[in-house]
Amino acid sequence: MVHPLESRVEHFVTCSPGLETTLHREVKALGLPKVEQQVGGVRFIGRMEDAWRANLELRTAVRVLRRLDRFPCPDEKTLYETAKSVDWSAFLASDGGFFVDAQCRESALDHSQFVAQRTKDAVVDSLRDASGARPSVAKEDADLRIHVHMWRDRCTLSVDTSGDSLHKRGWRKYQGYAPVAETIAAGVILQSSWDRRAPLVDPFCGSGTLLVEAALIASGTAPGIFRGFGFEKWPGHDAKGWGKIREAALARVKMPAKLQLIGRDLDPDHLPGALENARSVGLADHFEFEAGDACAIAWKKGWGATIASNLPYGIRVGDPDNLDQLHHAFGASLRTSCAGYNFALLVGSRQFAHILGFQKWDSLPIQNGSLSCRLLLGGI
Ligand SMILES: C[S@@+](CC[C@H](N)C(=O)[O-])C[C@H]1O[C@@H](n2cnc3c(N)ncnc32)[C@H](O)[C@@H]1O
Repeated sequence: MVHPLESRVEHFVTCSPGLETTLHREVKALGLPKVEQQVGGVRFIGRMEDAWRANLELRTAVRVLRRLDRFPCPDEKTLYETAKSVDWSAFLASDGGFFVDAQCRESALDHSQFVAQRTKDAVVDSLRDASGARPSVAKEDADLRIHVHMWRDRCTLSVDTSGDSLHKRGWRKYQGYAPVAETIAAGVILQSSWDRRAPLVDPFCGSGTLLVEAALIASGTAPGIFRGFGFEKWPGHDAKGWGKIREAALARVKMPAKLQLIGRDLDPDHLPGALENARSVGLADHFEFEAGDACAIAWKKGWGATIASNLPYGIRVGDPDNLDQLHHAFGASLRTSCAGYNFALLVGSRQFAHILGFQKWDSLPIQNGSLSCRLLLGGI
């Protein structure tokens, strides 16, 4: 029998809704086998080493789930028996802590808490019968996260190779009030037409997320290089093989010498934190932060910069009554002074695209947590 970590199996990489095409492009570029874009993510069929690389390299991925089984599941007995038949010792040490997360739709077993509970029982019973071990349930800092996805009475049982969500890169020292998720920030930069050499400006930079992710992209730094992953805690983990992959990724890092990453924010309190974030990726020399109103920047003629930003939404940041005015003034400033620039602007709703007043733009819906945002892309 093939060891559960050696076989070539289906993986599902999740992302924020709206970023599937970007993620699909990334997965293809990584050369992973048998790639297919689906709703909510991208599927590939590969070995454990492919999952390592997916975790380390994919910028818009949120989790990499490794499928253990997919089976018709009309009742609780089938769920329990099938989950119990898995060799969990490949993924969890006898004293390890684990957590089960379940999602159920259009199925006889439609109570996700119950499904998670029965799966948990099956895992505990399986390990106890095999070795007398009794692992514990640990929501925080689990050694293993198990995903159960039940749809139309078909159950997909997966292990989460990532551990913490991949938006937690490990570089963030400062949060600010409303930081955009690192995975979405990377999606904004990857969708923009920035050539990774021209100056990149974020006039509403907050904690600097977009600029830091841009620095990682421009320098070829793997987004996962500053953190650990769930698979590293698995008993069968090949630490030596994984170490080589990490070293190869580190050896590749090279920042374009003259790249300028420029952040502005009306609130000066963000700027020391933004600089601290820039320092933590080791590329602070390329960053410049300054306090000021985004609508009053003295843009340089013919500079050809890319403006990438996430504007205040008015829900957590910004006065909702002034949002129309802010978008109007910002759009007017760009239209008057920034001919030849590109923009990639994440805004809180479709209406702001019109208020900004550009002649032409593409608009991509992106779900940012509970906020339905729009990414506006174009040239001025
Ligand atoms: C949605 S937050 C940006 C968050 C940022 N992307 C991050 O990841 O931390 C919007 C930012 O716009 C700033 N802001 C609001 N009005 C502004 C203005 N007129 N000019 C410049 N910055 C402004 C706020 O202080 C806030 O930091």
